[in-house]
Amino acid sequence: MTALDETAIGGLGASRRRVEDARFVRGRGHYVDDIHLPGMLHMEILRSPLAHARIVSIDTSKAWEIPGVRLVLTGEMMAQRNLAWMPTLSYDTQAVLATDKVRFQGQEVCVVVADDPYIAKDGCEAIVVEYEALPAIVNPEQAAAPDAPVIRDDKEGQTDNTCYRWEVGDAAATERAFAQADVVSSLKLHYPRSHPSPIECCGSIADYDAGTGKLTVYMTTQAPHIIRAAVALVAELPEHMIRIVSPDIGGGFGNKVPIYPGYVAGILASILLGKPVKWIEDKSGNLSSTGFGRDMYLDAQMALRSDGKILAVRMHAVTDQGAFFADAQPSKFKVGLLHSAFACYDVPVGLITAEGQYTNKAPGGVAYRCSFRVTEAMFFQERMVAAAAADLGIDAAEIRRRNLLTDDRFPHRTAFGFLVDSGQYHKCLDLGLDAIGYEEFKRDQVAARERGRLLGIGISTMTEPLGAGNSREYDILGIKMFDSAELRVHMTGKAILRTGAKTQGQGHETTWAQIVSHELGIPADDVIVEEGDTDTAPFGMGTYASRSTPVAGAAVAMVARKVRAKARKLAAHLLEVSEEDVEWELGRFYVRGAPERGATIQECAAAAYSNMPDGMEPGLENNAYYDPPNLTWPFAVYIVTVEVDPETGVWDVLRVVAVDDCGVRINPMIVEGQIMGGLTEAYAMANMQFQTYDADGNQVGSNYMDYLLPTAWETPGFELHEVVTPCPHHPIGAKGVGECAAVGGPAAFVNAVHDALASTGVRNIDMPVLPDRVWQALQDGRDVSGAPPVRSDS
Ligand code: CDP
Repeated sequence: MTALDETAIGGLGASRRRVEDARFVRGRGHYVDDIHLPGMLHMEILRSPLAHARIVSIDTSKAWEIPGVRLVLTGEMMAQRNLAWMPTLSYDTQAVLATDKVRFQGQEVCVVVADDPYIAKDGCEAIVVEYEALPAIVNPEQAAAPDAPVIRDDKEGQTDNTCYRWEVGDAAATERAFAQADVVSSLKLHYPRSHPSPIECCGSIADYDAGTGKLTVYMTTQAPHIIRAAVALVAELPEHMIRIVSPDIGGGFGNKVPIYPGYVAGILASILLGKPVKWIEDKSGNLSSTGFGRDMYLDAQMALRSDGKILAVRMHAVTDQGAFFADAQPSKFKVGLLHSAFACYDVPVGLITAEGQYTNKAPGGVAYRCSFRVTEAMFFQERMVAAAAADLGIDAAEIRRRNLLTDDRFPHRTAFGFLVDSGQYHKCLDLGLDAIGYEEFKRDQVAARERGRLLGIGISTMTEPLGAGNSREYDILGIKMFDSAELRVHMTGKAILRTGAKTQGQGHETTWAQIVSHELGIPADDVIVEEGDTDTAPFGMGTYASRSTPVAGAAVAMVARKVRAKARKLAAHLLEVSEEDVEWELGRFYVRGAPERGATIQECAAAAYSNMPDGMEPGLENNAYYDPPNLTWPFAVYIVTVEVDPETGVWDVLRVVAVDDCGVRINPMIVEGQIMGGLTEAYAMANMQFQTYDADGNQVGSNYMDYLLPTAWETPGFELHEVVTPCPHHPIGAKGVGECAAVGGPAAFVNAVHDALASTGVRNIDMPVLPDRVWQALQDGRDVSGAPPVRSDS
């Protein structure tokens, strides 16, 4: 017998082509908007034109008169059914439809349901809302001012705009370390508000069947089971009578985790009308009202020895939460996993304090391609390290060498409590420096500067805690964070796998089958993967924060192992030996000492339905719920070189080198795709992207003329390298990867521009590092803040 070739059957490590692409590239994807149900009506949302205003009156009479309008819902009507407010994923409340006030421009005020979307839009335009404008608050500084109007006066006991305070670390030990520092390096930064902006906007079809009492909601959610639980609680419907179906999703990036008012209003409309109600958000609606990312200010200091050794860090973060605290994040951590900052460095002590302020801006704070505020953590960390290197006159690579954890330091407990369990940080850094030709570039840089050319090189190293839970520490609204898989092997050896995750473009249909293939030797093409239907998929927390491979992926391996354990019993029966005498090789059991006598996994599957031993339950299937013992800790080094034009401030990227260690790669091609996508988003955040508001709270950039998405034209090329340090606790040694480059990438671009400007004394230009900001910095030799404007009359 020749052993199966794992790569040939599409197992672990095979760059198998994405099976889902067969339908996507042919235009045969099946998205929410492709679903047309008999008798379906359409819903549109009337949004607030003002950022902060009291609602004086709402007159819907003209809308009701339009032929084809079936329902107009106001906040008052929602309130009569106790549905005017809903819980957020951060234990706050959010208005479904405004009753008392509007609190951000674009807030949902009314919905109109009609025979088609155009009539529904006409209906919205016919509604007359009288507002009494209130002063708008557009940044946390204004929000914290003593005389600031209280935005959340709906909340009992809320007397200011603070929505949370949080602290982690050891204040006293940090003070002591700072007292012993040779140098204290300080930095103030703003990570601007950005938006995940998936190609497909949010949307849903609520279909309440008055005959059966069952509610089916087709929707663009990354977390169908959480939505089902939330709908059960908010609408007080029994959970088994709710089915959430998440079909193909055109990108999520965290934007499709929260519960949005449109879903809730659509569900109520369907219940009231007894008809399916479709709501498809438009691009402006998506950009102006759904979950944003970042918007965090940092005031930080680093205590250093003169040789560059970091003694302590102190970080104070202020988040601009918008009108409702709707961050999707584990309950215990009010500012996500910001405290993962410096996890890859040997930093003995530190203190992080954080506070969130309500402002008159859209709510969100979603984990935009990031494990709950890790993007901010890594950006701040790498900007602080770069600034410290500059302050000390130490080379940027050298300061990292002196502080990165060495291989013998794992497992390592960080100053903020994480347990980082594996990595080869120095190997990754050296590989990256070699690949970019660091020393040579530094020499060229000096020569170029003499000729008036500004070249820069930026390094970013990072580790990201991916794969929440474990369930002891991580929960959302009390629901523990674990995940699941269910595998059924049919009689012919073909299989169906379902998980509690939900792919939005990451390729789970391809990679999960590869894990089954690796564990059972069933060709990956023989395994179909289904996700997203709560009636059929096992309970799971969904896909965000790159948790799928660490948690659901692990569950896939575990369930396949359970199935293999039963198949072993079937093999023993078929081979007429005791189970102890049965050995396993990929795809086949054989008799110890007589390898020619064997039974393939397919033969075992057939036996499970046609020839099982006496007393054995028929069938070959199982399920697994996986509660990870720890997060997974991928590591990466990103190095970017740029040239800045001193005349215009425009900067061009010369090269981008990435070294990623995400443990064992299930599908190297998909991993590379994830890294390239992440670097593209990193480049966009560094270079062009932010959501701005004017002093009155008007959103500037609720369209793609202003909010820029990188196209192939301006996106630089990427040179990718890999190091593999298997995860010590994941069943197949994999770590998450989906977000790493988006998380670690921005600092590499930004550090490169600052390195090019090193001789000017400019320490910080906030993102996006727009040419006019660079030009301004070059003119004045001063830092350029990206903080939003303050009202001239305040
Ligand atoms: O949770 P999400 O799917 O967004 O992120 P992920 O778990 O990092 O996985 C992104 C994609 O990369 C999936 O298709 C994974 O199976 C794949 N991947 C891989 O092939 N090898 C890894 N070590 C990590 C992820």
